[in-house]
Amino acid sequence: MRSIAIMNQKGGVGKTTTAVNISAALAATGAKVCLIDMDPQAHATLHFGIEPQVEFDSVYDVLVKDMPLHKVRRQVAENLWIVPAHLDLSSAEMELAGDVAPQLLLREKLQADAESAECPNFDYVFIDCPPSLGILTVNALTAVDEVFIPMQPHFLALHGLSKLLQTIDVIARRLNPRLRLSGVVFCMYDGQTRLASEVAQDINAFFEKKDDSSDTLQNVRVFQTKIRKNVRLAEAPSFGRPIFEYDPGSNGAEDYRNLAGEIVCQGQKN
Ligand SMILES: Nc1ncnc2c1ncn2[C@@H]1O[C@H](COP(=O)(O)OP(=O)(O)OP(=O)(O)O)[C@@H](O)[C@H]1O
Ligand SMILES: [Mg+2]
Repeated sequence: MRSIAIMNQKGGVGKTTTAVNISAALAATGAKVCLIDMDPQAHATLHFGIEPQVEFDSVYDVLVKDMPLHKVRRQVAENLWIVPAHLDLSSAEMELAGDVAPQLLLREKLQADAESAECPNFDYVFIDCPPSLGILTVNALTAVDEVFIPMQPHFLALHGLSKLLQTIDVIARRLNPRLRLSGVVFCMYDGQTRLASEVAQDINAFFEKKDDSSDTLQNVRVFQTKIRKNVRLAEAPSFGRPIFEYDPGSNGAEDYRNLAGEIVCQGQKN
């Protein structure tokens, strides 16, 4: 099983869109996929048509009320499950502050889940992180083996990256020695602009140079598939389904299908 957190502390870079659509793309290939929504905004949950206004058990109950994962996990398509978030997750940070080791909660829950009879044998577990480096993101990074960073090719992209890499390094040293940054995905890519291709080149060069400086950066793949700007991707959440059901012929669907293909190949090589 591969476990992958989709993380970037910068907001609106394409984390949720990527988490939802690669989960759906991989499930469509026959892999069993679970997506855990760790963001109090509950956008991934909404993207699957689950309305957060209604009371339901969610990842909040798993972390704060000690509920097992399988009690809140829902199947949303063939081979695809989601552990939904609810707006009440925003208070988890404070509620967990008194816990002895709140960073480890999700890891423990995932381990217990993997050993339980109710757990489908997942090939992939993805975690959609919130745009912050608080306890929810730390829980995600402590529970997984890999991190994917979606980023927009802005000229400040490299700037935010060093803080992100530092965080991954600290978590790897203190809490989760297995953690590796394994993927960088360009989202909302506009191939027409010189800036986008220059930033993409800079990021490629940055990781080539960094390659042996840190254990967490040994196998970073800057994915060749770039997710183009595509309004259909922005529309799909209000429809409550992944892009493949909303508009399977769109550029967005094509890009996320190709990205899923690269992710499968990456798994076979490692
Ligand atoms: N390739 C794309 N083309 C056009 N719009 C996109 C694309 N990817 C994402 N969007 C839209 O951009 C907005 C931000 O994307 P998304 O919610 O995936 O980012 P995020 O990093 O999860 O944000 P947050 O940090 O708030 O969780 C959303 O409205 C989404 O529908
Ligand atoms: Mg999001």
